[in-house]
Amino acid sequence: MQLPEGLRRESMPRHVAVIMDGNSRWARQRGLLTPSGHEAGLRSMKEFIKLCLQWGIKVVTVFAFSIDNWTRPKEEVDIVMTLIENLLKSGLDDFIREGTRVSIIGDTSRVPESLQRTICEIQEMTRENSKFHFIMAISYSGTYDLVEACKSVAQKVRDGVIQVEEINESVVQHELETKCSEFPCPDLLIRTSGEVRISNFLLWQSAYSELFFAKALWPDFGKNDFVEALASYQQRQRRYGSRYA
Ligand code: IPE
Ligand code: MG
Repeated sequence: MQLPEGLRRESMPRHVAVIMDGNSRWARQRGLLTPSGHEAGLRSMKEFIKLCLQWGIKVVTVFAFSIDNWTRPKEEVDIVMTLIENLLKSGLDDFIREGTRVSIIGDTSRVPESLQRTICEIQEMTRENSKFHFIMAISYSGTYDLVEACKSVAQKVRDGVIQVEEINESVVQHELETKCSEFPCPDLLIRTSGEVRISNFLLWQSAYSELFFAKALWPDFGKNDFVEALASYQQRQRRYGSRYA
C-alpha cells in the first residue's frame, strides 16, 4: 500500500469524518441545477472512500444529510434520498467484496420507507465486515443525538437501572448513535467549501478531533486536497488538554 509522498504511515488518522459541503454552489457556478451538484458530490464521495481504503484509513463518517436539511425544497430532498438509496444498493456488492461494514446514523424514521429497508438490509449484510467501516450520517443532528441519549439515561434512572450519581461520560457515550465499538471518535474532521463551522455534526464525538477546513467545494475536493488535509493533521500535536502529548 503506497502512501502519497510526505505522509507518514504511523501517524495516519484512524477515523476521518467529513462535512461534504458545497454541492449546490458547485452546480450554480456551472450553470447547472442543484441535483447535478448532488450527483457530483456523490461521485466525489466514492473517490474519497477509495482513497481511504487505499491509504489504510479504517473508519470514515460522512455527513450526507443533516436533520436541518429537511427544510429544503421537497424536490431537492427527494433527489438526495434517491441518490443515497441508489448508492447503497449499487454499492452493496463492492462493500461485501472489500470487507466494508456500512452503518447509518441519524433519525432514519424520517427517510422514505424504501430507503429505510435498504438501510436495514445493508447494515445487516455487512455487520460482520471489519476491514473498513463506512458510516453515513443521514437525517443526523448532533444535538438531537444528545437529547435522545439524555432521554435514554433518564429512562434508566426512572427504571432504577442506574443511580443519578452513576451517570458519567461513559454512560452518556453508550447511549449515543455512535456507541458501537467500531466507532472511535474522529481523529480528523474535514469540512469543505470554505465555511468554518461544525453545523451540528458529531458534537460529542469531535471533542478532540483535529479540524481541517478546505476551500474547495465538495465535488472538487480531490486527492491533492485530501493529501493536504492529512499532511496538516500529521503536523499537529495532539495533547488532549495535557501539557505534552
Ligand atoms: C451539501 O451541499 C450537501 C447537502 C447538504 C445535502 P449543499 O447543498 O449544502 O451545497 P451549498 O453549501 O448550498 O453550496
Ligand atoms: Mg451547504
